[in-house]
Amino acid sequence: RPGSTEAPAVAAQPIGSTKGFQTLLMSTEDNITTIRLNRPEKKNAITVEMYNELIEALDHAGKDDSVITVITGSGDYYCSGNDLNNFRKIPEGGVEKMAKDSGELLKRYVKAYIDFPKPLIGVINGPAVGVSVTLLGLFDVVYATERATFHTPFSQLGQSPEGCSSYLFPKIMGAAKASEMLLFNKKLTAAQACEVGLVTEVFPESSFQAEVWTRLRAYAKLPRNLIRGVEKEKLHAINDAEVERLMERWLSDECMQAIVSFFQAKSKL
Ligand code: COA
Repeated sequence: RPGSTEAPAVAAQPIGSTKGFQTLLMSTEDNITTIRLNRPEKKNAITVEMYNELIEALDHAGKDDSVITVITGSGDYYCSGNDLNNFRKIPEGGVEKMAKDSGELLKRYVKAYIDFPKPLIGVINGPAVGVSVTLLGLFDVVYATERATFHTPFSQLGQSPEGCSSYLFPKIMGAAKASEMLLFNKKLTAAQACEVGLVTEVFPESSFQAEVWTRLRAYAKLPRNLIRGVEKEKLHAINDAEVERLMERWLSDECMQAIVSFFQAKSKL
């Protein structure tokens, strides 16, 4: 950028053609395809529509000319995980049908990450919750602002881990640290997540966007490469098993009660 020493945060992000999604912004520039979760007023909670759009966006990104793909969030949160309203829309077939449909969608969603054919980079612009954290084990590089936190409150919600985290988290951080997160809901700071290897590097909030995008533009000039692909079969089997378990958890009293409590607490405000 001629004539400037440091790019302003917003201009530092790639701006390019945007595909028409309701819940995402997608653009490609400088060999980087960026998928931006775009429900900032709901902390980027993932609705059924958003899961489907993300699957479609990843499919496009995997096939386009870009060298790397980035996922990031709009607003102050990276993502608050599964939109808990997804559990309130009970279809005609009852809660069993709801669990089956949600399970199939989640399985397809995680599959899109396991099979993603290019380097996938997480630009974690704020707190991350639930499935947005567990999936990070399937990313190639994860950059976080110091403001980010990493929280997987599954047992608190009567649920169980997904995104291949039951296998990848112990592998990345060791069994004991993974258990604290996945079984006992321990929320990690960005620095702690970096220490255990879930996050690659943490940046000060003030320079996060400028530093990260400068670095990514340099990476995207490198020849295309990929180190993913190992263990794919195993990861698919783990995804299947995690989803089976979750479908059972979604029908449990503990899970239903936790969802009711979330919405009751909201309505009391
Ligand atoms: N599902 C549904 N709605 C969500 C959501 C989620 N996962 N996360 C945030 N929202 C909604 C809030 O209900 C609120 O909606 P409203 O404006 O209509 O009241 C809006 O997003 C803003 O969130 P709010 O709770 O006001 O912000 P906060 O900063 O006080 O708290 C969270 C943010 C993420 C800590 C809190 O919203 C939360 O705990 N969400 C649930 C996270 C969760 O359990 N995810 C599933 C993990 S398995």
